[in-house]
Formats: sequence, structure tokens, C-alpha cells
Amino acid sequence: RKEKQDPENQDTEKFIESLPKVKAWQNMNRNMYFYQGFWIPQWYLGPVLSFREHFQACDTDIILGTYPKSGTTWLKALVYAVINRKSFNLDKNPLNSASPHTLVPFFELNLYLQSKTPDFSSFSPPRCLATHVPYQALAESIRTTSCRIVYLCRNPFDTFVSLWKFNTIPTSNPKDGEPIGLEEAFDMFCHGSSPFGPFWDHFLGFWKESLRNPNKVLFLKYEDMKRDIKGDMKRLAEFLGCPFSEEEEKEGIIEEISRFCSFDNLRDLQPNKSGKLMKYYPANSFFRKGEVGDWVNYLTPSMEDRLNKVMEEKLEDSGLTF
Ligand code: A3P
Repeated sequence: RKEKQDPENQDTEKFIESLPKVKAWQNMNRNMYFYQGFWIPQWYLGPVLSFREHFQACDTDIILGTYPKSGTTWLKALVYAVINRKSFNLDKNPLNSASPHTLVPFFELNLYLQSKTPDFSSFSPPRCLATHVPYQALAESIRTTSCRIVYLCRNPFDTFVSLWKFNTIPTSNPKDGEPIGLEEAFDMFCHGSSPFGPFWDHFLGFWKESLRNPNKVLFLKYEDMKRDIKGDMKRLAEFLGCPFSEEEEKEGIIEEISRFCSFDNLRDLQPNKSGKLMKYYPANSFFRKGEVGDWVNYLTPSMEDRLNKVMEEKLEDSGLTF
């Protein structure tokens, strides 16, 4: 599809209305718009535009990137615990009293949703911030400064099921319409019209940059982290410039942090059990099963075939496999 130009000096709403649109998954009364090659839910498009226009990255920033439902909550907790491990023991860690999404907010789902020019003065370096915006559409300064990006990717089968389930959870948003059905959502996912999709272009933007510039982008996989959390935590800490010392390894700090950030432990912490996040979402909806392979309980063999074909076609030659 042909892109329209950025809005510079244009009225934002008019600009948004000029973009191609499809029904949004979570609220079929509303839309997703095709912007910079990706389908952005209506309510996040204004914030994405502000983020791209105004965000000034610093060299010390740590940006966490994910396609929705790839394990962002887990990654946020891990990175937060790793970079702050010298400031407080785990029992005093702010993650005990605040959600990972509060401590590591999203640009478009939190900060730029609340204000076109958010105040970053309360963040001390290294600032840790998160986004579902694809690499290709990030604020320019993220790509031009030496800030670091950690991207967490998850196999498309589990990602799809987690995303569909999440989009059917009743939120407290009075404007919410009917959520999307499984078959329709699956069809849209395979066509690329899912929130922040196509998923393959999302994955590939970060994947290719991680190959081109491994000091800039660390590419992690959910399934690898489940298999070998210790190995990935070491890679993560090294990448972020705060490797675990031999002494820390001997003391079992890596195991302690990984246990603290495990699904069972995080899910049972008070801030993750009650209350709302991003205004409308129950905090506990970010902790469903946390497993690899749950998709088999939802997708038929023919759906499996179809998604495998999409992956073969779209990820072929990239070297990215699941
Ligand atoms: P499921 O719906 O498959 O259970 P995100 O954080 O990007 O919104 O992704 C949510 C998915 O990550 C959900 O997957 C959720 O259960 C899972 N998750 C949350 N915390 C996790 C953790 N500490 N370890 C592993 N998976 C986790």
C-alpha cells in the first residue's frame, strides 16, 4: 500500500482520517490505521505521531521493543531488576509495589497518550522505556543516538493466541464495542492486519538491525528465555554494560533475579494482582498462562498450516526461525 506523508503542519485528525483503515480487534466500533507500514489502533495513533515528532533519546537510554503479547511485562521486570540490582536488594525492589508497566512505561500506551510532550524529568539515567512501535517507525533519535534497544520476540502461534485472548478481555472502557472472534482475528493476523502488525515486518525490522548492528539491538526470544534464562540474562547484562561479576554469579544473583521475575512470582505480587493499567486493563490480565505451546488448545491443524505458510513466505531467507 502507498503511504501518505507525515502530517507536518497538517491537522492530525484529518491526516489520520486520510489513512487506510480496518476494524480494530479490541473494539470493532473503532479502527486501526495503516501508518508507516503498520496497523496502529486508533487510540494510539496520535501518541505514536507525538512520540515520533518529539522524543529525544539520550545515549544512555534503554529501549525495550516488543510486538504486543510477546512477554513485554517479563522483559520489563528483568531489565529493571538487572540494571538496578546494585541499588536495592530484591526484597526492597520497587517491583514489589509497582507494576513493571508503571516502572518502565510505554511511549505510546502511557507517556505520549497522557501528553504530547511528556515530562521525563523524574527519570534518572539510564532511562528505561518501552514501545510496540516497529523499528522502522521509531523516533529518529532512537536510531541516531547510541541508546540501546532490547527486542523480545515470541513465536507467532503463541503470540497470536495471547493477543486474541487479551483483546477479548472486558475492559472498563465504556466505549468498547464487541471484541473480535477467533477466526476473524486469525485471518487478519495472517494478512498482517493485527495491532502493530504485520507481525513479520515488526520482527524483521529489529532482527535485521540486530544483525547489522549487534551493539545497538539485542534480539531475544521468549522460548529461548524459557529454556535458558541464565544464559539470556548474562547476554542481557553484558549488552547493557553491567555484566554479572564472577562474585555475583557465585552468590547466585542471576538465579535470584530470574526467580523473582518468573511468571509465578510476578503474577502473585500485589501490584500485578489488582488495579488497572493503561487506564482500562486489569493488571492481572498481563499474566495469563506464560507457557510455550498453549496455542495448540485454540488453533486447528488447518490454521496451523496456514500460519506456517505465512511464516515460511515472510521470514524465508531472513535467518529468523522459531
Ligand atoms: P500468555 O497470554 O500466553 O499467557 P505482554 O507482557 O507482552 O503483554 O505479554 C503477555 C504474555 O506474557 C502473556 O502470555 C503472559 O502470561 C506472559 N507473561 C507475563 N509475565 C511473564 C513471565 N514473568 N514469564 C513468562 N511469561 C510471562
